[in-house]
Amino acid sequence: MDVGGEGVLELSSFSPGRGSLPPRAYLHTDAPRLSLNGDWQFRLSPGIRSAPADGWQDGRDLRGFETLPVPSSWPMHGHGKPAYTNIQFPFAVEPPHVPDANPVGDHVLAFHTGPEFFPHALLRFDGIDSAGTVWLNGVELGTTRGSRLAHEFDVSGILVEGNNTLAVRVAQFSAASYVEDQDMWWLPGIFRDVSLQARPAEGIDDVFVHAGYDPRSGEGVLRIEASRGGQAIDAVVRVPELDLELPAGQEQRIPGVEPWSAEVPRLYEATVSTPAETVSLQLGFRSIHIEDAQFTVNGRRILLRGVNRHEHHPRLGRVVPREVMESELKLMKQHNINAIRTSHYPPHPDFLSLADQLGFYVVLECDLETHGFESAGWAQNPSDDPRWEAALLDRMRRTVERDKNHASVIMWSLGNESGTGRNLAAMSRWVKDRDPSRPIHYEGDWSSPYVDVYSRMYASQAETALIGQGIEPPLEDAALDARRRAMPFVLCEYVHAMGNGPGGMTEYQDLFERHPRLMGGFVWEWLEHGITVPTPGGGEHFAYGGDFGEEIHDGNFVTDGLVDANRKPRPGLLDFKRVVAPLRIQVAGDWSGFTVHSGQDFADTSAYSFRFAVAADGGTPDGGTVEVPPLAAQETATVALPAGIRPQAGPAVLTVSAVLNAATAWAEAGHEVAWGQSVHSAGPAVPPPASETVHATDAELRLGPAVFSRLTGMPLEIGGVPIERMGLSLWWPPTDNDLGREWGGDDPRPLALQWKEAGLDRLHSRLLGITAGATSDGGEQLVIRTRVGAADKQYGVLVDYSWTSDGDALALRTQVRPQGTWVNAGFNVEWARIGLELVLGGEASTVSWFGQGPHQAYPDTGQGTRTGWFSMALDELDVDYARPQESGARAGVGSAALKLQEGELEITGDPFSLTVRPYSQAVLDAATHRPDLKPDGHTYVYVDHAMRGVGTAACGPGVLEAYRLAPRDADFTIVLRVRP
Ligand code: GAL
Ligand code: MG
Repeated sequence: MDVGGEGVLELSSFSPGRGSLPPRAYLHTDAPRLSLNGDWQFRLSPGIRSAPADGWQDGRDLRGFETLPVPSSWPMHGHGKPAYTNIQFPFAVEPPHVPDANPVGDHVLAFHTGPEFFPHALLRFDGIDSAGTVWLNGVELGTTRGSRLAHEFDVSGILVEGNNTLAVRVAQFSAASYVEDQDMWWLPGIFRDVSLQARPAEGIDDVFVHAGYDPRSGEGVLRIEASRGGQAIDAVVRVPELDLELPAGQEQRIPGVEPWSAEVPRLYEATVSTPAETVSLQLGFRSIHIEDAQFTVNGRRILLRGVNRHEHHPRLGRVVPREVMESELKLMKQHNINAIRTSHYPPHPDFLSLADQLGFYVVLECDLETHGFESAGWAQNPSDDPRWEAALLDRMRRTVERDKNHASVIMWSLGNESGTGRNLAAMSRWVKDRDPSRPIHYEGDWSSPYVDVYSRMYASQAETALIGQGIEPPLEDAALDARRRAMPFVLCEYVHAMGNGPGGMTEYQDLFERHPRLMGGFVWEWLEHGITVPTPGGGEHFAYGGDFGEEIHDGNFVTDGLVDANRKPRPGLLDFKRVVAPLRIQVAGDWSGFTVHSGQDFADTSAYSFRFAVAADGGTPDGGTVEVPPLAAQETATVALPAGIRPQAGPAVLTVSAVLNAATAWAEAGHEVAWGQSVHSAGPAVPPPASETVHATDAELRLGPAVFSRLTGMPLEIGGVPIERMGLSLWWPPTDNDLGREWGGDDPRPLALQWKEAGLDRLHSRLLGITAGATSDGGEQLVIRTRVGAADKQYGVLVDYSWTSDGDALALRTQVRPQGTWVNAGFNVEWARIGLELVLGGEASTVSWFGQGPHQAYPDTGQGTRTGWFSMALDELDVDYARPQESGARAGVGSAALKLQEGELEITGDPFSLTVRPYSQAVLDAATHRPDLKPDGHTYVYVDHAMRGVGTAACGPGVLEAYRLAPRDADFTIVLRVRP
């Protein structure tokens, strides 16, 4: 009798699951299959000791059960709650023991079986998080370990024709949790498909496709192994399109085959048959080699434009419906992404077929991460403890066997952040033996002893440049150093896309394109893992770590993607699309033509049409198409534009785009892939004549359409628009990157703290004097001299505001001079911005501008913005990051208009950055979630002469030197005018 001990013991076992069949490929077969997805019965218990031991597995006693869909993550259906930690374990680290507070979900399904499942059938589970025990008709079949790995159980002799009862007990935590410490929500459940599959007696259990490509001869090299019960069997391979029929196991060279690549994902339908079963396959012929420290596919060095992809859904948790997965993969292709690392576990098996079809290079990662051992110096790390060897090998085997037939998989990854150790070496040895055709990846051991490519995460641009040139500092061990120096280099994670950013992508891409050793990399990460929750008072927003009452958590570090949890692109994705565009278009300054460089690795440019368009203020765009002879991969050409296309009186913009000339599997015809622009500006902004004079009353001063306070010298009203406040701003409410500690930075404090401690967010202005002086236009210039400083600080800034008017418009010249030594706590203080904050009395409805858009741009981002005329509602201007932060600046603005109740406030000037919001910096700074940003009826306008870059210090390097902003002089002029 289990008195509450045995279940605990089994959950605390170092061993892999027991009782399941050997892993094999995920096959599309004509053998009968029954999906067991649907409504199951479910009961949650708080721990294994309190979970009823017997009586429910055969479906007799279902007291306390209610309906739950399968697949599901049960906390997303009101049973318990999600919990988020990044590295830390949410329980005491004492492997292999599990906490007593260990939710246990009992799942029961009654289902009906027809005669087609006899005599042999198996039950397949594609993913149970984390530890399952399975019963069919009250008979225990075994256990599952490896949440994102498939387990199959032979049910021959247990399955009956007619009614059957399937029962699965799932424990949230098991010893396996120690090796599944990925940075994501802890979300238990049977979260992938469950199915019953008939196994014909003379059927095909497994197939191993070897479809190579010989780039010298253009031949495909095909061999397909078929097996049953681990033994090779006779079977017939057919590839109708190639007129091919050959026995399984035989190698055949096939002339004139079209190879597979992510650019041209050519697939051939094939079947493998015995008299009893036919399996359908999609063959992609391709070969992978590492030569001269370069990673090649089909004989050519390739460049990865990749993202890390987790599986998450904002309402369903780990369950990602097929159509969501399909549309997100298409969205990636539409944004020029060609590679995916399946961080940090194998994805749903259907993902690989889609990747084959759409064209992605996939680094397929094993379900392994032991990151939480690092804080104890990797003591007890499962990667190096022989007691874990069987479990880790089992994980690797299940990973490789399931997905080995996919052309898209170009590397196997042993796992993520699991330290170093003998079990990783054993996993690597096993893979090399089983599948010598694919290189092995693992980042966690920088000496790279058991891998084939040198991989790192978040290495700076400077270090990447050294590695690209092969001149990185040597390893101590000369043999390992020589081995590593012969390897290509991949950034398995780089440019951390958390919040506003990531900055610095262009600089990485330049390096990737320059140095053939560099394979490119994978942005961290594709998707934010926000969870949709109702907002008190109405609406919905994304929750993150800590929002579910977790005892320990890692806050919003779980929302760090190029798309939000609903797959809505963040500005970072729009920028990445341009940075990694396969074509680079440069338009000549005189508009006589453009050059186009193809960064493609295989295909020529015949898939694209080239369009040009001229836009001028208010005018309708004019344009057409231009013939470009197909460019071979990596070729550059110069193309002339029709003679009529020449710069007009500015501002005018010429855009040349490359668009798909036919629909593909992932986009419509006309989809834009790349573009370039040449902007003919209006020339420098000219202030209006300074003909007005200053009129003084007791309390006020008037100059043209403006009224100023005599107490502060600041404007109270401009053309009838009330001005609540105006002043210098050197700060912004910290982004996630500002809250991170810059890797390799001098100051150990996050920038956000440096700023706060330096007082940048609490500047006050002191009036030095107000004077009026004659202008050469016969009017007067009103000069307001101020000193801006913070409590307790000696350093400050002298700011002079000089106003003139022609009676209609106002010119404002702002001169900024730092005063004193801008050093605090022993470190130089850097600024976020040099600009004016203007708080208007009323709320603007729309903002229009000529400049970069439509999305935000900071000095090291905005690569995907283009110059043009844009108009947006006020509430569309900021970015709805899960944790509110500085966002929404539009760069290169030459003119802007804010629609207000009193009229339209026009701002022109030498290109500035413009940010407009309905809430204050203080409100933004204090906000933790989107609903905290309550408009207060004012309009907060920021006109910035200079801004700092955003970098990627949330995880990785900070802002590159060129994009930093040290205290410095500034002198800039804007012109303000209110039109009725
Ligand atoms: C990496 C890790 C990822 C993720 C990222 C930060 O170290 O591999 O899983 O945690 O940092 O978002
Ligand atoms: Mg980690």
